[in-house]
Amino acid sequence: MGKDVIVACDFSSAEQTFAFLDKFTGRKPFVKIGMELYYAEGPEIVRQIKARGHKIFLDLKLHDIPNTVKKAMAVLRNLDVDITNLHAAGTTAMMQAALEGLTRPDGTRPLLIAVTQLTSTDAAALKNELLIDTPMAETVLSYAKNAAASGLDGVVCSPLEAALVKERCGADFLTVTPGIRFADSAAGDQKRIMTPEKAGKSGCDYIVVGRPITQAEDPVAAYRRAVKDFLG
Ligand code: C5P
Repeated sequence: MGKDVIVACDFSSAEQTFAFLDKFTGRKPFVKIGMELYYAEGPEIVRQIKARGHKIFLDLKLHDIPNTVKKAMAVLRNLDVDITNLHAAGTTAMMQAALEGLTRPDGTRPLLIAVTQLTSTDAAALKNELLIDTPMAETVLSYAKNAAASGLDGVVCSPLEAALVKERCGADFLTVTPGIRFADSAAGDQKRIMTPEKAGKSGCDYIVVGRPITQAEDPVAAYRRAVKDFLG
């Protein structure tokens, strides 16, 4: 898979999601299904979006004991998504078990990527609540290296960290980056942001774009703009 723009479908119902996706009569966007939509509609929403011809990143961020994650991944592999994920904080044992569970009997599997530290966790929370004294950037890179050593395909990270992740984990190690904003769009709650154009030049393989597309007056135009800016 090459570079692409993934649209975060952060909707709470199938109805809203399909009303949004129906607007795309040309190029079918790569779609991210997160917890909100998945918990509202269940696995059927994944099958329906897939049947419409979209690639899917199922963003459920699994984190549990290795055996539980392995068994959950063995269920998710049947949904035939393109990318799914987990928390690197679950340890290399959990990540390796997840890969085993995700691999189908014929040896194929969706891409598996790891969340390193959530972008909502700031330096103070890292130190005072998670009791991690290592600075944020080093923690993120260390978790990314654990993911690579476990055989995962990449990480979710800030576009500002993508180049460094590639440097440490290899050029083929995927970087999937939220926190994308057009120069003229509202940042909202995202703090460390980058434009699609700059992300395209900064080692990001996939950019995840939500509100700048879903809340745009013309979502299809906003999507086309993101694709054009990102792919160059
Ligand atoms: O609307 P916006 O473009 O901010 O959407 C970004 C998407 O990426 C959301 O679905 C958000 O949950 C997700 N995400 C993120 N930061 C992370 C991990 C996921 O913004 N570290």
